[in-house]
Amino acid sequence: MDETGSIANIVSREYPIAFPHPGWSEQDPADWWAAVCDGIPALLEGFDASQVKGIGAGGQMHGLVVLDKNDAVIRPCILWNDGRTQRQVDYLNGVIGKDKLSRYTANIAFAGFTAPKLLWMRENEPDNFARIQKIMLPKDYINYKLTGVHCTDYSDASGMLLLDVEHKCWSKEMLDICGVQESQLPKLFESWQPVGTLTAEAAQMLGLPADVVVCAGAGDNAASAIGTGVVEDCRSFLTLGTSGVINTHIDTLRVDAQGRVHTFCAAVPGAWLVVASQQSAGLSMQWMRNTLYPEDNEYARINADIAARPIGAQRLLYLPYLLGDRSPHMDPDARGVFFGLSSIHTRGDMARAVMEGVSYGLRDCLGVMRDMGIVPREMLVCGGGAKSPIWRQMLADVLSVPMRRMESSDSGALGACILAAVGAGVYANIREACGVSVRCGGAVQPDAARSAEYEKFYALFQRLYPHMQEDFKFLSKL
Ligand code: XUL
Repeated sequence: MDETGSIANIVSREYPIAFPHPGWSEQDPADWWAAVCDGIPALLEGFDASQVKGIGAGGQMHGLVVLDKNDAVIRPCILWNDGRTQRQVDYLNGVIGKDKLSRYTANIAFAGFTAPKLLWMRENEPDNFARIQKIMLPKDYINYKLTGVHCTDYSDASGMLLLDVEHKCWSKEMLDICGVQESQLPKLFESWQPVGTLTAEAAQMLGLPADVVVCAGAGDNAASAIGTGVVEDCRSFLTLGTSGVINTHIDTLRVDAQGRVHTFCAAVPGAWLVVASQQSAGLSMQWMRNTLYPEDNEYARINADIAARPIGAQRLLYLPYLLGDRSPHMDPDARGVFFGLSSIHTRGDMARAVMEGVSYGLRDCLGVMRDMGIVPREMLVCGGGAKSPIWRQMLADVLSVPMRRMESSDSGALGACILAAVGAGVYANIREACGVSVRCGGAVQPDAARSAEYEKFYALFQRLYPHMQEDFKFLSKL
């Protein structure tokens, strides 16, 4: 990104993900670093590298990266969507208690969070646990490789369940519960703050000058908040990727008493983000496409089929819990359901039911925020799913909120660039930087008649999960 906020170049690299057991997911931090070392020189091709002022990372949250006394990675990173820790989560929420956890961290335990993974490691891999010298999150490993500094930022640290999110310091109580020392944790920074400059080795490997500033960066949601310009009280955005996440910026701490959503530090100092995540948003669409439209790589035909069907998909409903549910039910055992399937239904009806079901799940997420007194005027929408006009209109109608598309769908990466620009002194602060760099497109408005029609089906959607909650548990044990 240049200093006018224009994106000069984008390069992306993929890396593998391993599923060593059902419900587990891991990545090798060496693969991330290899992608950086391959991607950055490609990114710089045709540009004058001596002009580069700063680097910022926005990263997948919650993953557990552990280093030994030689700073070598001890075991593969256990990722945000890994479900192996249910026993440890039950211990934290049930025995330690949700009230205490919420007091210590502003959150309750969830299977993907970092603290339950530490407990899992202590119980299941005691030798590895004993070797831990440093604990960090995925993007922090990249920053360590770039600068040699063990660091993290408040937004990402919030998802560890080890940070006192209200007072922005490590929670002594949580460290005791997990059997870790403060010296094993990385140093805390604001997201925009420089953690250091490139090591001579990193500079040489990447083809960059050694005085490039590396800022602490942010977790993906906090980075996207900056990239969508969501930096004022009660402004919200929705990321429609594999998961669907509604994030709202708040200037005064608010925590849902029932623990149905997370409250994390924002990348803007002194502010927080309320995060409501549905695990299978784009994933449901992708699963439906692969299963019902295997001949289609694109969504054009699927979107046309959906547009041709009436609201309610001829009385067919879909529950989007392919990988369990996070907000609002926090139930890893929940699963996807088609309800009301009859002989008249075609794949077009099923496609429509899937898009509607994901939208109702997001409406549940927004409902929790409304219960917390958060009423957004409009919602900025980014991520791959934001490209579908029919989905944007459906969301506006189901959520009864105007949906405004971002010009760039890479809001997380843009947010990380903006933070780096602030850290390098290009802008005075984050708000000024957002004013220069963030560009929105037009908004679609909700239609009252359609909203009323959706409301009837949403009322039924809300009743279905409680009816099936016990049966999901039973199913998981069969
Ligand atoms: C947030 C969350 C995701 C992950 C993966 O709680 O789990 O945003 O960081 O994208």
